[in-house]
Amino acid sequence: MTDTVKLNAADKDLDLKVLHGSVGPDVIDIRKLYAQTGMFTYDPGFTSTASCDSAITYIDGDEGVLLHRGYPIGQLAEQSSFMEVCHLLLNGELPTKDELDKFTYTISRHTMLHEQLATFYRGFRRDAHPMAIMCGVVGALSAFYQDSADITDPQQRMIASHRLIAKMPTIAAMAYKYSIGQPFMHPKNELSYTGNFLRMTFGVPAEEYVVDPVIEKAMDRIFILHADHEQNASTSTVRLAGSSGANPFACIAAGIACLWGPAHGGANEAALNMLREIGTVDRIPEYIARAKDKNDPFRLMGFGHRVYKNYDPRATVMQQTVREVFAAMKVSDPVFDVALKLEEMALSDPYFIEKKLFPNVDFYSGVILSAIGFPTTMFTALFALARTVGWVAQWNEMIADPEQKIGRPRQLYTGPTQRDYVPLDARS
Ligand code: ACO
Repeated sequence: MTDTVKLNAADKDLDLKVLHGSVGPDVIDIRKLYAQTGMFTYDPGFTSTASCDSAITYIDGDEGVLLHRGYPIGQLAEQSSFMEVCHLLLNGELPTKDELDKFTYTISRHTMLHEQLATFYRGFRRDAHPMAIMCGVVGALSAFYQDSADITDPQQRMIASHRLIAKMPTIAAMAYKYSIGQPFMHPKNELSYTGNFLRMTFGVPAEEYVVDPVIEKAMDRIFILHADHEQNASTSTVRLAGSSGANPFACIAAGIACLWGPAHGGANEAALNMLREIGTVDRIPEYIARAKDKNDPFRLMGFGHRVYKNYDPRATVMQQTVREVFAAMKVSDPVFDVALKLEEMALSDPYFIEKKLFPNVDFYSGVILSAIGFPTTMFTALFALARTVGWVAQWNEMIADPEQKIGRPRQLYTGPTQRDYVPLDARS
């Protein structure tokens, strides 16, 4: 095992320390590089840079492995529940029965929103994208829950984390209700976390809503599959925002903003829209040709991943969940057939093979969310709901880290060098 690497830079020989994780690639510690050489490293998009150390989630992108606190995602999706996974991510261990009951009870007691937050919703246009509402409302939580905003107090950090996990289903469901003009549904805490969300989304005050256990289980699994994914763009955004000492509600709002983009969480919406646009299996070759054309900006949405150069293990579970839900609901959707065929054709095409482009979690999630009854605009909001636990777990880990510093990348400046100001009337 190498403990140092040698670097010759600026006519100096440096021994740079090599740090070893419990599993995964070693990393070269370059923290002293600038002080010793006057040089920075250049890595836009962080393709070779570890921005922190973390004990929460591990991904081996070449092998298609995803572990939360050491547990494989497939086992968690099959055997666990979202509440259990939340406890695991936040606290490091699977809960005992008592711990799980207590955790579930605590979360259920934080599900309501301050009543005045309902007036925030009324300020949005009815056709506002749910993610626009989520960014605004989650950021606004900092104006209502100032009693859990002291980030130096671990107890307050945990209360803020519980509040965020608990309130996110209420916030997302209200965004949906607002868009369709139906009254907001208050949470009903005797229901499970997921059952409660389904009722707040699809229930109406005029009738009793009975949670379908098949849908409840599928939805819970979808939440598990989205719970955390180490230092992805939105999590890094949360960490960067939090590194300045910003309150947790503002940090999570920043994460939601980043997740919204079509290259990240917005891909599930884009993927289903693409599958619908393709419509029939015979049109697939046309879209594959477009994805391969360098002069066409079109990409196969739900395909490719910065880290996975193999099948995204979440996509495997998601595909299987679509089959189970369709069988249980006795429904089918031609879009699923298009997705299966598109996957098959892309995975046998040299372009996708060479570039190691496989379906990611977003490829099949839209198909199942649509079957459950969510409009495409809600897909990314559901992702944000589920990812909140990952964001708060990573944020907590960062704040508790004694080596934590404000995140402040450097740059390679390519603009003009110093020049003198020219008065307006002297400019040509
Ligand atoms: N369709 C067609 N070609 C693709 C695709 C795609 N979906 N994804 C990557 N490529 C090609 C690129 O054109 C590039 O080709 P080149 O080397 O000839 O220039 C090569 O594969 C590498 O792509 P990059 O964009 O450099 O890879 P990067 O790691 O930066 O991007 C990303 C990863 C953003 C996920 C990309 O694969 C993509 O845009 N996919 C579609 C959007 C998507 O599904 N996003 C969801 C990600 S998962 C998530 O956030 C939960």
